[in-house]
Amino acid sequence: MSEYVKLEFEGKIYQFPIVTGTEGEKAIDISELRSSTGLITLDPGYANTGSCASSITFMDGEKGILRYRGIPIEQLAEHSSFIETAYLLINGKLPTGEELKQISILFNDHSLVHEDMQIFYQNFPRGAHPMGILSSMANALRSFYPELQTIEEEINITVIRLLSKVRTMAAMSYKISRGHKVVYPRPDYKYPANFLHMMFDTPVKPYEINETLVRALDVFWILHADHEQNCSTSTVRLVGSGRVNLYAAISAGISALWGPLHGGANQAVIDMLKEIQKDGGNHQRAVEKAKDKKDPFRLMGFGHRVYKAYDPRAKLIKKMCDKILKELDISDPLLDLAKELEEVALTDDYFIEKNLYPNVDFYSGIVLRAMGIPTNMFTVMFAIGRLPGWIAQWKESMDDPMWKLGRPRQVYTGPSITDYIPIDQR
Ligand code: SDX
Repeated sequence: MSEYVKLEFEGKIYQFPIVTGTEGEKAIDISELRSSTGLITLDPGYANTGSCASSITFMDGEKGILRYRGIPIEQLAEHSSFIETAYLLINGKLPTGEELKQISILFNDHSLVHEDMQIFYQNFPRGAHPMGILSSMANALRSFYPELQTIEEEINITVIRLLSKVRTMAAMSYKISRGHKVVYPRPDYKYPANFLHMMFDTPVKPYEINETLVRALDVFWILHADHEQNCSTSTVRLVGSGRVNLYAAISAGISALWGPLHGGANQAVIDMLKEIQKDGGNHQRAVEKAKDKKDPFRLMGFGHRVYKAYDPRAKLIKKMCDKILKELDISDPLLDLAKELEEVALTDDYFIEKNLYPNVDFYSGIVLRAMGIPTNMFTVMFAIGRLPGWIAQWKESMDDPMWKLGRPRQVYTGPSITDYIPIDQR
């Protein structure tokens, strides 16, 4: 039996269908709202607005649930690899052993970037932010690989290129920013090991692969791989809806992720912890500042538009911090500070009433520091992890018969009709 909601407006009753999701969440389908009532909705930040139906990722913000294609994030973090998870997100099923082997061969074949791209890197100012470089390079890939992406095969090869080259491009920006020689990927290394190799190998000190860090990076990227219709994913979908090539849509997603309210928060958390450390570890002052309405300061890594419970990814990353610091016998005072800050915030009425918990970015910087990743590359690490999610969501939107050019409406609040005033009368 189909469900409806009724809307009464100017003496008339209108009915709009209810759409019910797999887990019982409900939405009003307002695709006929304007044509039948002349009304539009207004929803700043789209906090109450669904942009699409999607079968990729399920989140329950109240219960702190996250599943990729139905599989709980905890099981994927425990048993899967980043590449297997990327395959699951993009293809809707876990790969067979043979399929995984084929993917690995393709990743090797496409792991290099065109040598001419190094000229682009060389011409960025030394202090250029790696997210700005990565976004530019993702867009530049289109110039080197101009396939039209109209047939399945061209789309698939573009997907492989992006997934394989993104880590090479990221490592290149680090090496070149330090004036070091670019290190090429190795065919005998798997995805995360190859990235660490390209980042830290040098002719004088070969990089020794540490399996604890390789596994930590694999899990880090699994936890970042998708998160339904967040800011950067919605950007990829919106830019993609104009039917631009995938490289340009991904470049837009990288730019959207860069913001400190979104993926840029992982870098902002470490900067915040360092400030608190400089202030003698006075986390109470940071909490008071975060609560002060007059102060724009927010507790970075805390709060979430959807999670009103502990972000399940933050839980897993926090556990990972303890594990790798212990295994590597590293102590990081910022981890102790972060835990104390969490404890103070979670017992404070302000944070309790507003359901503000640590999100994925709160502890992730600690893991990345343990790997030796420089702070200004933390959001690049997030982008590499999120790339399969962006691709999966883009593909789903391209295959969705309901999907069309994204173009929101507005409520106009400017001046009504006004005559032009010649300059000598102003
Ligand atoms: C990511 O969407 C996703 O899925 C994103 C992501 C993903 O995987 O793609 O999960 C990744 O972006 C995680 C979020 C990283 N950002 C941060 O850690 C930045 C700090 N957090 C906040 O800026 C904030 O919590 C947001 C932006 C994340 C969410 O903010 P909302 O949903 O717009 O909520 P809001 O700003 O309306 O806040 C509600 C209330 C406000 O107080 P009142 O006006 O009601 O009195 O909570 C307060 C806010 O002032 N608040 C905070 C706070 N976050 C919200 N107060 C202090 N510190 C904070 N961190």
